[in-house]
Amino acid sequence: MLRRSLVWAILLLGVAFALGDGGYNINILDPATSNNREVSKLLWWVMGFAVVIFVVVIGAMTYIVLKFKKRGNEVGEPPQFHGNDRLEITWTLIPFLIVCVIFGLTARGMFEISQVPPDAMPVKVTAHLFWWDFEYPEQGIRTSNELILPVNRPVNFEITSNEAGPAKPVIHSFRVASLAGTQDAIPGIVTTRWFKPEKEGVYYGQCAELCGASHSNMRFRVIVVSQAEFDRFVQGAKAFQPPASTDAAVAKGQQLFNAQCTACHAINNTQYRSKIGPDLTFFGNRLTLGAGIWNNTPERLEAWIKNSPGMKPGSLMPPFPQLSAEDARSIAAYLESLKVEGLDFSKLPKF
Ligand code: CUA
Repeated sequence: MLRRSLVWAILLLGVAFALGDGGYNINILDPATSNNREVSKLLWWVMGFAVVIFVVVIGAMTYIVLKFKKRGNEVGEPPQFHGNDRLEITWTLIPFLIVCVIFGLTARGMFEISQVPPDAMPVKVTAHLFWWDFEYPEQGIRTSNELILPVNRPVNFEITSNEAGPAKPVIHSFRVASLAGTQDAIPGIVTTRWFKPEKEGVYYGQCAELCGASHSNMRFRVIVVSQAEFDRFVQGAKAFQPPASTDAAVAKGQQLFNAQCTACHAINNTQYRSKIGPDLTFFGNRLTLGAGIWNNTPERLEAWIKNSPGMKPGSLMPPFPQLSAEDARSIAAYLESLKVEGLDFSKLPKF
């Protein structure tokens, strides 16, 4: 019976936790950082106690009900008695000890998680309506919505929410289920959280605090790659130049982009440095579009350029109904051409 109830519990938990998005295997029972492993350990301890208590209580109840049930011609109430000091002390003491053990394990886990390793790489996270900005102060680069990290290096996140711009500042929450718990992004305050990713892959991130119409569309990815791949990415991003294209559509797209889009969007090593909207350097390497909502395809991008709020309620990027389909296609072609050569994140496993 014990084994069967355990199997059922694990199956149900598996279904509940494995309901990932778009092939993402989000599974809190398979932690990918030391911090999540600490939390996962606690889960197993609590589960263990719960299963033992369940079996003892249900077992005793079943035994008593069967053994002392009414038989034959018995009439009236059974003998009444109360008070058994030994029994009462036992069933008070056991739960007390269980709570003490869980308290001790929790305190230890909290201590472990709060120790930021001295060699942690800083990353500044700014939550916007409805997208994420990431700055690497050590490397002097910036990315939006897709954060690229080296494997096995601790990262310390300094998290806040954007206060500038036309919209009222609100609280968001930074959450990558497979890597760490949630950390609120609060306007005017910097909160911190660290973790060390241990497995290469693409991790699914999601805003975890109701922040407005597109709260559920405020997603991001954390892309964990080898140190060599990360170095290549940093080099490529720092030395990035929009490719001088001979393709007429791309050249036209560049012209249109520079004229219409650069009040909000930045591209490295150009005069366009605005931080109002997401950074679009190496946009061609991006897996996703619209803050992690869709796969990055030229067709989607074209539709997004023409009518972003139509695709994502509350998006602060204005629609461009006057833009011809051909011009939108040119801008999309230009953006897809912005690439750090040799980087491909599409084959990585998804968590
Ligand atoms: Cu940002 Cu919910």
